[in-house]
Amino acid sequence: MDKIVIEGGFPLNGEIAISGAKNSAIKLMAVTLLTDQPIVLKNMPRLRDTRSMGQLLKHMGVEVDHGAGSEMKLHAAKLSGTTAPYDLVRKMRATFNVLGPLLARTGEAKVSLPGGCAIGARPVDLHLKALQALGADIQLDEGYVNAAAKNGLTGAEITFPFVSVGATEHTMLAAVLAKGETVLYNAAREPEIIDLAECLNAMGAKITGAGRSEVHIEGVSSLCGVTHHVVPDRIEAGTYALAAATAGGSVRLTNIRSDHLGALWPLIAQAGAKVSLDETTVLIERGGGRPKPVDVDTMAYPGFPTDLQAQFMAFMCLADGVSIIRENIFENRFMHCPELSRMGADITVTGREAIVRGVKEFRAAPVMATDLRASASLINAGLAARGETHIGRVYHLDRGFEHIEVKLGQCGARIRREAE
Ligand code: UD1
Repeated sequence: MDKIVIEGGFPLNGEIAISGAKNSAIKLMAVTLLTDQPIVLKNMPRLRDTRSMGQLLKHMGVEVDHGAGSEMKLHAAKLSGTTAPYDLVRKMRATFNVLGPLLARTGEAKVSLPGGCAIGARPVDLHLKALQALGADIQLDEGYVNAAAKNGLTGAEITFPFVSVGATEHTMLAAVLAKGETVLYNAAREPEIIDLAECLNAMGAKITGAGRSEVHIEGVSSLCGVTHHVVPDRIEAGTYALAAATAGGSVRLTNIRSDHLGALWPLIAQAGAKVSLDETTVLIERGGGRPKPVDVDTMAYPGFPTDLQAQFMAFMCLADGVSIIRENIFENRFMHCPELSRMGADITVTGREAIVRGVKEFRAAPVMATDLRASASLINAGLAARGETHIGRVYHLDRGFEHIEVKLGQCGARIRREAE
């Protein structure tokens, strides 16, 4: 297993090109199950999670070719099976989203209940209720979902009791081939949902309203192939923006959609860093002096993303004062706090709230990555800490950040990967 070693305490200076969004890429890969025509995805990140999804699709007979660059070709001309086994699904929760497309195309599927980051219970009840509303017969047996829709799926009106990104996307992936109209109420509005809808519409689907709370899907009988460009990764962009804000320096991020991080930029500026934006780039600059404390509440899009909560907390650990960070999406997403505390941070967690009393500096220490985004907060803290920080279990990081040590190294970070 690898670890990341950072000799910190130096500002970052340089430019980083942001990759395609992991959270979009893996759902777009599932789209291939809906058509016997080839699909080409451009701006595809090379990540452990995209590899996991590729392995699952190959298991079902899909041709998957990621080549050497950022283009991935997928072709599900014929499916050799409709089972997604535990060993392949447990590595990444989003692989569960093959259930809907398999049902829609073949009328049956057997998919293991998912694994993924250990950030709370993360059930899939909303996914299953939505598929049932579309007419699927769902049975749970020995950790598997056995689903059938022998006569196909039928459109329905579905009201989500609360916003779920995964359930919204999953229902869209099934409803595109259902008979008649599906209407989703209280749908998630994340940019990745718009990306998925744009890809499906280019294949002949009839989705309107993606990106709003009410989404209409008029089912069609078949979908054709497509070439689609994956939306930029707003979480990767936010992570590097916060790396520059935390360690100091001047970093320009390119290939972003700055409008997708509308909740982050004002908070970085409020904390005292300079943020200069245009549509596709941002320049983050922070000189000497400590950041000002800023409170954060995570919310569904367009609110502050839960996937940047840990990284923002690492920034606030160095603030000149107290900030309060509330996690409203997941119930157990403060596992980075004890690790940041090992580096000298002063954090008290009570339920869904963390009180962060700023300290003058981080101290380098051996720490452990606990989940994907938590690992990124440890990287950012390590960049700011004087001395050598060793971050173990970096496989979490490799799930969602493409070439992280190369990208940060381009900005002068002294960061390397070593065998543990
Ligand atoms: C997606 C993102 C993840 C991000 C999250 C919230 C991917 C691959 N992952 O995860 O990075 O942190 O959105 O922005 O896109 N819930 C239920 N029942 C369900 C579904 C969800 O109770 O059937 C709960 C979850 O436990 C959580 C909340 O709803 O507390 C929101 O989860 P959801 O939006 O579904 O997150 P994911 O799609 O899993």
